Amino acid sequence: MSAVTPQAVEAPTPQHLAEEFVALFGYRPLGSFRAPGRVNFIGEHTDYNSGLVLPIAIDRAVYVAIGQRSEASAEGRTEGGAGEIGTADPPRRGESIRIVSDHRDDTGQRMSGQFTAAELMPGTLPGWLSHPAGVVDEIAKTTGTVVGGVDLYIESTVPVGAGLSSSHALEVAVLIALDEVFGLGLDDREKVLLTQRAENDFVGAPTGIVDQAASIMTETGHALFLDCRDLGARQIPFDLDTEGLRLLVIDSKVSHSHSESGYGARRKSCEESAAIFGVDSLRELADDVDLSGLTDEQRKRVRHVLAENARVRATVELLEDNERSHGSDHDARIRAIGDLLVASHESLAHDYEVSCAELDVAVTAAMGAGALGARMIGGGFGGSAIALIDAGRVDDVGDAVSAAFAEHGYRKPDIFAVSAGRGAARFD
Ligand code: GLA
Repeated sequence: MSAVTPQAVEAPTPQHLAEEFVALFGYRPLGSFRAPGRVNFIGEHTDYNSGLVLPIAIDRAVYVAIGQRSEASAEGRTEGGAGEIGTADPPRRGESIRIVSDHRDDTGQRMSGQFTAAELMPGTLPGWLSHPAGVVDEIAKTTGTVVGGVDLYIESTVPVGAGLSSSHALEVAVLIALDEVFGLGLDDREKVLLTQRAENDFVGAPTGIVDQAASIMTETGHALFLDCRDLGARQIPFDLDTEGLRLLVIDSKVSHSHSESGYGARRKSCEESAAIFGVDSLRELADDVDLSGLTDEQRKRVRHVLAENARVRATVELLEDNERSHGSDHDARIRAIGDLLVASHESLAHDYEVSCAELDVAVTAAMGAGALGARMIGGGFGGSAIALIDAGRVDDVGDAVSAAFAEHGYRKPDIFAVSAGRGAARFD
């Protein structure tokens, strides 16, 4: 049996979400929304250095059905709350927000919570709930709108803890739902920055913007070439199927946390180096800047960031050249992209020091089985790696990675293919 899980994951339908919502809250939701997880193809630990990234939105997402409690539904009658967004009564802003997820806790209960926007304080809500709460808190701070009187039901096909940005997808799904119901009128850029502040200031994770931007700004079949300095974006065609390629995700099953891991220390080191050069961010430095005034550790971190930005530029050029001409150089360009992925991994492992044994084994085994390129993705210290492979090699690479994990006594990895899906939007 293949070690690779078939690509198709069963996504919930709007009807299913509505039925679950009615069963839970006793009235019909206004609608549902979908926000995808991401794979950052290349450009790691560059976002908070005002650098370059190239993520895709994957075909796995967080789904949110949202309803607005009416007088009737608030009193427990079932007929209230129906209607279309924009035609319902004005939401009752000071009231609580109830959230139920289809994820179950250890006792088999659906995870759920309730809070009021006015009483939110960072650090007072359990893990997953802090993400939607952070969004609600930031909406109040940014727009002055104190949202409330709504219920949310959540399902997700993004594996949690796999480094595919399930929590950012949750934030984005909640934000776009609240944006529409409360008529906030936020544009994409404001949505990206708002969810980043929710993450930084409320959740307490000092992350950048690549994950939210990938979820919000990416178009189907494209990677998002994003300049994190000014959020300037270009959609880069990224259709692996027509290239005869596949992108495998290898979830190492090693969990990580950006509020606790060495992520913050990496970010601080970069900021200190930028200050030594008297610039706002490492993005202002030339590729060949003299790094001899830095400590060994600072030098390695800066070297990674500068080289990674250059690798993103090179990858974009190769993808765009391929799009323009499918001539004889095509295979060479694909191989060159694979080489850039491997170089990114080496740099993350040795200069940035954010890989771990399991991710290194995943990359080595994938390359040994004929992958064109492979690297760890995301913040590091666990999570997932990706492998770019010829379509015909899916099983070879999957089996080799699985066997290597078994040999090392690691947990069985989850391995599945992803493609460039659509960005966050209303779902029904
Ligand atoms: C995490 C963060 C992102 C980014 C990556 C590393 O995924 O959430 O903002 O910094 O790590 O590239």
